[in-house]
Amino acid sequence: MKIRIAILGARGYTARQLIELLLRHPGVEITCLSTRDSDRPPLAEVHPVFAGRLDLRLENSTPDSVADQADCVFSCLPHAASAAFVAQLLDRGLRVVDFSADYRLTDPDVYQTWYGVAHPDPDRLATAVYGLPELFRESIRTTQLVANPGCYPTSAILGLAPLLQAGCIAADGLVIDSKSGVSGAGRNPKPNLHFPECNESVAAYSIGSHRHMPEVDQLLSRVAGQTIEVIFTPHLIPMDRGILTTTYGTASDSCSPDQCMDRMKDFYSGEPFVRVVDKPPTTKQVLGTNYCDIYTTWVRGKIVVVTVIDNLIKGASGAAVQNFNIMYGFDETTALL
Ligand SMILES: NC(=O)c1ccc[n+]([C@@H]2O[C@H](COP(=O)([O-])OP(=O)(O)OC[C@H]3O[C@@H](n4cnc5c(N)ncnc54)[C@H](OP(=O)(O)O)[C@@H]3O)[C@@H](O)[C@H]2O)c1
Repeated sequence: MKIRIAILGARGYTARQLIELLLRHPGVEITCLSTRDSDRPPLAEVHPVFAGRLDLRLENSTPDSVADQADCVFSCLPHAASAAFVAQLLDRGLRVVDFSADYRLTDPDVYQTWYGVAHPDPDRLATAVYGLPELFRESIRTTQLVANPGCYPTSAILGLAPLLQAGCIAADGLVIDSKSGVSGAGRNPKPNLHFPECNESVAAYSIGSHRHMPEVDQLLSRVAGQTIEVIFTPHLIPMDRGILTTTYGTASDSCSPDQCMDRMKDFYSGEPFVRVVDKPPTTKQVLGTNYCDIYTTWVRGKIVVVTVIDNLIKGASGAAVQNFNIMYGFDETTALL
């Protein structure tokens, strides 16, 4: 029996990538694609790449219609809209992988501060599992609700978690500098994303105010066992997809450069989608893959970590499929290699 899959927000970029991955998955059948559009557009009209490959229409679905058609739901909706819908699916017993930020932060007050709205489903925040398999694989297996991580946080947390946990890097003064391709902002047009605005230009934005900053703080604090507040600066760069993150932190006295590299290699040995590499990686070497490549070096007493991911795969839809595979007992790499 195949697992029946619904995808909410099927018009978006992450949904398009998710459909591409799930069409390769032998254990699933996509049965429901949602939109707010009541005209029921064919999938091939919304995403021409699927013409002749998946004959479905997008529907203005209700929680009841989704529950009738699906066992598991991937919600590719924006924050707030996602939890409002997802809460009703969870009430009906479905399992959910939520791409939005709605179930990532554990404190509803922090959510309200950073997202500017009251959390639509605050009582469930304690039950969601943060969907980073490299850190929380065992909890992902049994949960009803996975909070799929943000793309920037994935790139930052995977680079820092092993070093923080081992005490190789100081918990204070961590600086995270990230660069993302334009698809990170989604498919809905915005003035700064128009081709003449962002092509041949690089821009820092939301310095000290990006919504992924409290997510990184929360996860790194949990890993380190103490409060961490990072400085996070994202940049928009003129490419379709990919994230490169460089983090800087003070090396602890008790850890040598070799120990630091060994720690990174030990932590990720056996991980199917993290590669510790011996020269600074490029976004192109992970393009179209679920890999996160990590490079570590020392400069004047500081540890510098560089990570690269494809924001739409390891930063979103690939991670979601990896989480789904763990939840349903499939080989974790199914549809991803
Ligand atoms: N892009 C990335 O790299 C990335 C990475 C990690 C996580 N995420 C998260 O994943 C989710 C989907 O991202 P995306 O990049 O796929 O977004 P997107 O391209 O903007 O697509 C989201 C889709 O959701 C639908 N929708 C339903 N309710 C909506 C509402 N109230 N406002 C706007 N759209 C609404 C829209 O389709 P209709 O108009 O057809 O209803 C829209 O096409 C977001 O929560 C995002 O933060 C994105």
